[in-house]
Amino acid sequence: MMDRVLPTCLLVSVLLFLFVMARSEEEEVKQALVRFMERLAPGNAVIGQTFGWDVNTDPCSGKWQGVICDSPSQSVKMIVLDERNLTGVLDALSLCTTSSLLVLSLNDNGIGGDIPNEISNCQNLTHLYLSGNRFSGNLPLSLPQLNNLKRLDLSKNALSGQVPPNLSKVSGLLSFFVQDNQLSGEIPKFDFSNLAQFNVSNNNFSGAIPDVKGRFNTSSFLGNPGLCGLPLPDLCPPAKKSSTKQFVE
Ligand SMILES: *[C@@H]1O[C@H](CO)[C@@H](O)[C@H](O)[C@H]1NC(C)=O
Ligand SMILES: *[C@@H]1O[C@H](CO)[C@@H](O)[C@H](O)[C@H]1NC(C)=O
Ligand SMILES: *[C@@H]1O[C@H](CO)[C@@H](O)[C@H](O)[C@H]1NC(C)=O
Ligand SMILES: *[C@@H]1O[C@H](CO)[C@@H](O)[C@H](O)[C@H]1NC(C)=O
Ligand SMILES: *[C@@H]1O[C@H](CO)[C@@H](O)[C@H](O)[C@H]1NC(C)=O
Ligand SMILES: *[C@@H]1O[C@H](CO)[C@@H](O)[C@H](O)[C@H]1NC(C)=O
Repeated sequence: MMDRVLPTCLLVSVLLFLFVMARSEEEEVKQALVRFMERLAPGNAVIGQTFGWDVNTDPCSGKWQGVICDSPSQSVKMIVLDERNLTGVLDALSLCTTSSLLVLSLNDNGIGGDIPNEISNCQNLTHLYLSGNRFSGNLPLSLPQLNNLKRLDLSKNALSGQVPPNLSKVSGLLSFFVQDNQLSGEIPKFDFSNLAQFNVSNNNFSGAIPDVKGRFNTSSFLGNPGLCGLPLPDLCPPAKKSSTKQFVE
């Protein structure tokens, strides 16, 4: 008798423990998401209109505006809050507690501050759309660690500094939009044969444009006085004797 009851008790305890653990993890993720929203919408948070993002309901209940979940797994898949007058900052540390996130779209708001390094904690992110905000400062050096990234749109902000060179190693990247910022330095040597969309216009990039394999025209490179080489009509100055070849082919 005892030798059958004991293992059953143990099994029940273990299952209960796992259940409680899962619930508390879920609770933690939910609280982190609400924190992310409160920092994104500081004014709205004060007046209590955080788009239904409430710790007392489930993010996948359908009441959290802008949250789209995967239906069998009930995990948060997309957060889309374009044109919502959001004027806070991006708390990536809180956001990326939600490791299931694939798409983050916050286009055309007034979000400021920098794009935090912790964005790379969102390891499954495939689409990052932050166009038309007030992001400033350098791009996070951790950006290339988002190695599932397919579409990146950081256009129309006030970003400066260089693009991390090894962003070019993110092999699945299809779109790279950073037009209308104040980025500088050289354009990373992307594999342009894999890129479908590319725009670095209206920044302060300089040096020779890498070989774009004839896939992009001047309209992707306008407004960078220091850039030279195809597809722009400005030839690069001849390379110095000491340095190795390249520039215009
Ligand atoms: C955003 O703010 C503007 C001006 O205050 C207002 O006209 C507009 O309706 C607001 N949009 C949303 C989605 O709240
Ligand atoms: C992240 O993506 C990997 C690979 O596609 C997958 O195995 C994993 O379950 C995903 N993580 C979450 C939390 O969805
Ligand atoms: C990019 O380069 C930095 C240092 O230069 C390195 O720490 C990082 O691991 C590199 N990332 C990738 C994706 O290669
Ligand atoms: C643009 O870059 C050049 C160096 O290539 C630098 O001298 C200049 O100050 C930069 N201009 C702006 C507006 O940042
Ligand atoms: C350049 O490419 C874009 C998009 O690929 C296209 O819409 C545009 O017509 C092209 N412009 C020129 C001048 O060829
Ligand atoms: C690139 O961005 C500039 C500035 O916003 C725009 O004028 C141009 O049409 C864009 N080109 C492409 C190919 O997206």
